[in-house]
Amino acid sequence: MATRTRSKSSNDTRTGDRSGGNGGRRSAFGWGGQTGVIAAAAMAGAAVGIAANLGRKFVVQGIGASAGDWSEALAAEHQLVLALFDKLGATSDEQTWMRAHLLTKIKNALGKHALEEENVLYPVLRRANAAHDADALNGEHGYVKTYLYELETTAKDDPGWLAKARELRAMLEEHMRMEEDEVFPALRAGLSEEQNAELSRAINREGLKLA
Ligand SMILES: [Fe+2]
Ligand SMILES: [Fe+2]
Repeated sequence: MATRTRSKSSNDTRTGDRSGGNGGRRSAFGWGGQTGVIAAAAMAGAAVGIAANLGRKFVVQGIGASAGDWSEALAAEHQLVLALFDKLGATSDEQTWMRAHLLTKIKNALGKHALEEENVLYPVLRRANAAHDADALNGEHGYVKTYLYELETTAKDDPGWLAKARELRAMLEEHMRMEEDEVFPALRAGLSEEQNAELSRAINREGLKLA
């Protein structure tokens, strides 16, 4: 894990040819004749698909994340990841499929979480004069990815596999503790109610991209 020196933040905070005419280039979006009917039906189908996908995303992202405070939403994601590690810790060397399955779930959850923090939270931290914390935490995310790569590329029944996974869990727990106990509260206290609300919305929007 990267060495970090904790610093206290000051926290101060196209259009195609639509004619469908014989003379012109026929657009897939033409509304004249049969082509238009087919195109309209295809678009209606696409709309249903898009709506269904959006519904799935909101379920994955979580209603609480869209309505709640950003720090509580990120802390809840921490707990979700730690719970997955606990399931991993209970597997035996013979349960290689389960280990691979849980590792994939952990990687997906951490990938979404990292996107939210690296693309939104840490930039806001830097803007709030806490660049040192943001850089330290961002660096630790890099080490987390290195551990995940090692776990991914090592045989799941390797005698040292679970020990490596437990090492990563301990490191993650420490990283999460720093965020939840020090960084999140300090940043939250330094932002106005509206700034915190905007940060919650921005983090939720970022999470939806990978949900
Ligand atoms: Fe983090
Ligand atoms: Fe985090």
